[in-house]
Amino acid sequence: MGNWGTAQIQPGNRHPLYAFVHLARLLLALLLLAGCRAAPAIVTPQGPAGEAISNLWWTLLAMGGAVYVVVMGFMLVALFRRRQEPDEQRALRPGLARVIWLGGLVVPAVILFAVDGLTVGVLRALADPSAAPVMTIRVVGRQWWWEVHYPEYQVVTANEVHLPVGQPVEIELVSDDVIHSFWVPELHGKLDLNPGMTNRFWLQADVAGEYWGECAEFCGVQHAKMQFIVVAEPAEQLAAWLDQQRQPAPAPTEPVAQRGLEVFLESGCMNCHTIAGTAATGRLGPDLTHLASRRMLAAASVANNRGNLGGWIMDPQHIKPGNFMPPTDLTGTELQALLEYLSTLE
Ligand code: CUA
Repeated sequence: MGNWGTAQIQPGNRHPLYAFVHLARLLLALLLLAGCRAAPAIVTPQGPAGEAISNLWWTLLAMGGAVYVVVMGFMLVALFRRRQEPDEQRALRPGLARVIWLGGLVVPAVILFAVDGLTVGVLRALADPSAAPVMTIRVVGRQWWWEVHYPEYQVVTANEVHLPVGQPVEIELVSDDVIHSFWVPELHGKLDLNPGMTNRFWLQADVAGEYWGECAEFCGVQHAKMQFIVVAEPAEQLAAWLDQQRQPAPAPTEPVAQRGLEVFLESGCMNCHTIAGTAATGRLGPDLTHLASRRMLAAASVANNRGNLGGWIMDPQHIKPGNFMPPTDLTGTELQALLEYLSTLE
């Protein structure tokens, strides 16, 4: 080994503490930036699976942090302590081999086995819910949105997964095109949706509310705008929601809305979208039977309001470039009539 005296490794003969000051600055900046993200993280779990994952994350962070502190401590000592003896003599010092075996093999092995044991334990705990799932929800990944089926209730919706609070549900995941990944950070880990196979896991939210979900596998240009919302609600509320979602769309009664339905059926919308109770049975895009009941549009890209919906219909490529919905050339009157009709689809 050469001479690792401090003067040689610091460019410009700076004090060796500079490196650590820079590192500390970088870590601080990262911490501050992490605070900018409003989306929920795995560190605020709201269900049993999320909690198990979060606990594991904190444990691994603590272990990694301890290892980091110890290693950095040794490095500081090595940087600042003056070499007492020449290398040849040092190599012969009794006990040095023991330090190398202990620090280089035994301690890392113990730590790695502990990490392995903890991880396998959590994986086992995540494999099955504590109780039998109360319903099955089938989620189909599409570029770039989520089709959500409740097979036992004949309900199809998009980009919104409703489940009963405090009870596990089974999630079946399939893909229609490429690989996607279903992730609700506060409730569970990620699971892929693969074309040609069905993956299953479970979700449980212990606190009523809305949870952010997103695609966690790069799946094309609009991967970042492939999001969804999980709504955990009391069982009665969920039953009422399912009941409402099962109903076909009512025939519009107002003349403007009636005209809007005509626009929908004449302008090509029906080739891709279904509205139960009408002649529209397209399957390429989201089912719109209860569009007005949804919180957001375009896989949770923008809020579901009249302005955004109008903008989406006229120029969807502006909001989500590369998506498969073509622009429309409706007149202002046609658009307003269409929006009027769509607003009746509660
Ligand atoms: Cu779907 Cu990324």
